[in-house]
Amino acid sequence: MSGLRGQFSSRLGFILAAAGSAVGIGNLVGFPVMAAKNGGAAFLIIYIAFVALVCFPVMLAEIAMGRASQKNPVGAFYALSDKSRVWGRVGGLAIVTPFMIAVFYSVITVWITLYMLQSAFGNLDRLAEPAAFGEIVASPTLFIYLFFTLGLVYIILSGGVRDGIEKAAKILMPLLFLMLLALVVFVMTLENSGAGISYYLIPDFSKINSTVVRSALNQAFFSLSLGMGILITYGSYFSRDEKIVNSTRLVAVTDTAVAFFAGLLILPAIFAINPDVDVQGLSDSSVSLIFSYLPQLFLEMQTFLGYTGASIVATVFFVLVFFAAITSLVSITEIPISWMVDEKHYSRRKALGVMGVVAGAFIILATMSLGMVGWLSSLVTYGGNSKSFFDVIYDLFYDTVLPLMGFLVCIFCSYRWKRSEFMNEVGEGDEKYLSSILCAYVSFSLATFIPLILLLVFANNVAQIYFGFNLLGF
Ligand code: PHE
Repeated sequence: MSGLRGQFSSRLGFILAAAGSAVGIGNLVGFPVMAAKNGGAAFLIIYIAFVALVCFPVMLAEIAMGRASQKNPVGAFYALSDKSRVWGRVGGLAIVTPFMIAVFYSVITVWITLYMLQSAFGNLDRLAEPAAFGEIVASPTLFIYLFFTLGLVYIILSGGVRDGIEKAAKILMPLLFLMLLALVVFVMTLENSGAGISYYLIPDFSKINSTVVRSALNQAFFSLSLGMGILITYGSYFSRDEKIVNSTRLVAVTDTAVAFFAGLLILPAIFAINPDVDVQGLSDSSVSLIFSYLPQLFLEMQTFLGYTGASIVATVFFVLVFFAAITSLVSITEIPISWMVDEKHYSRRKALGVMGVVAGAFIILATMSLGMVGWLSSLVTYGGNSKSFFDVIYDLFYDTVLPLMGFLVCIFCSYRWKRSEFMNEVGEGDEKYLSSILCAYVSFSLATFIPLILLLVFANNVAQIYFGFNLLGF
């Protein structure tokens, strides 16, 4: 059976594909905006602490589950728990979650595609108009971009693990790094960018409260592609001769570095354009504001560069985000596909077809819920806010299920799957690991405070989003 499963051709293939999944819109757009709003370096420090102390052990746990079971999330939970139906259901949640996250992520990727092409066609000024975003998301022409974007994801996925996912990541990831570095260097040369650099690097802890802390953890989870079965599935394609710890560390460092550099690009750009900027005012994290803000930011660069220059910078930025989004979208779509191939014994082609139809339907509904169709746009009201179909998916899966899945993975690896087997799996191919301090830390933290933190964040998110009150009270 395992002979039929795809496998990454090398350690580098795994690292690039996992980093391709991790590096996405969250790093390039979400992170800089959150950092701007929440005290610059103070947010960065909390974020890095979460990545190193909380997320890294969970990453190891997910990858080890995949490699030990050689299966998709449902098969992995089921096999490693000696066929417990309850844990099999938890695995089921790790199939539904990536599916739903793929839906809202596709909608955002389609906007990115539109912004990229429209900037390239010289329409940056129109994108920068305040009303533009609302009109764009409510316009049926969006479907043209949708077919283009999903078609590309389909082509990559139909190539399979090696010729599709790995090859795409090997080409797109290095290009992405180069473009990001070039943009950072360029922004650094602008007058006044220094103010943004100091804002970003000198911490202001007065901005930290429980909302900032929980959004840092959610952001880190999302950014590392945790809690949605991706690393379990990619772990199942990971060779047994390679060291899990080293590769995982590289993925975490790459992902965090990209987020860091994206901050180093966006914040100095903001300050270069307007040294007296009120960062609090501009940086509301709502998705629509980010999308109207970014083109305005690029358009203002025309004072330095002229309209064509500003359009080129905007296009390069959106191409960068587009690459990052496509590799992420590919990784997340692979999870339900691997489940259909393993558990339902579908051919890869059939699984892709089913995914295309079912996900396509959800994506179209979510796209139409942002102004095109009334009842989808104000589907329900909770926590004092009216929510669209798109918002419901976002709240339910990004803010609610991700920390819950993280919690369940910790409990599973520590208390259900034998802890010694879990540790041996992480250490397979890595003689020194089992006697290292890291191993002791991972084993202890995953059984104690990490699940506790994740449970707390889950409970607080539920209280805040659905009932409008803050459990933690600071
Ligand atoms: N990690 C990606 C990002 O930061 C997003 C992503 C989400 C990727 C879900 C895969 C799955 O944008």
